[in-house]
Amino acid sequence: MSNWQRAGALDDIQEEAPHAVEIGGKAIALYRFGDEVCAVGDTCPHQGDVKLSEGYFEGDTIECPMHQSCFNVRTGKVLGPPARDDLPVYPVRIEDGQVLVDTEG
Ligand code: FES
Repeated sequence: MSNWQRAGALDDIQEEAPHAVEIGGKAIALYRFGDEVCAVGDTCPHQGDVKLSEGYFEGDTIECPMHQSCFNVRTGKVLGPPARDDLPVYPVRIEDGQVLVDTEG
């Protein structure tokens, strides 16, 4: 089942920084690469309530600010311990300059 939700305007998302949103009760981080946007879970799977978007972002990797696990923001894959689980990845569509995220995808 799809549940497409508006996440904001593409123009409001910077390329150099994670863009944290809360949609349908889910903490999601948007990462912009030109006209492409990736949406992944923003909660570190290692210890719950740590926001990855407050960590260090470079290339396509976000580093958890708490214990420095890294994740690929395009695939959600965890790249190193202590976290073991991947991030959820959400489908993204851009329509009329608006970013839509499928929170059930
Ligand atoms: S809380 Fe993110 S690596 Fe520990």
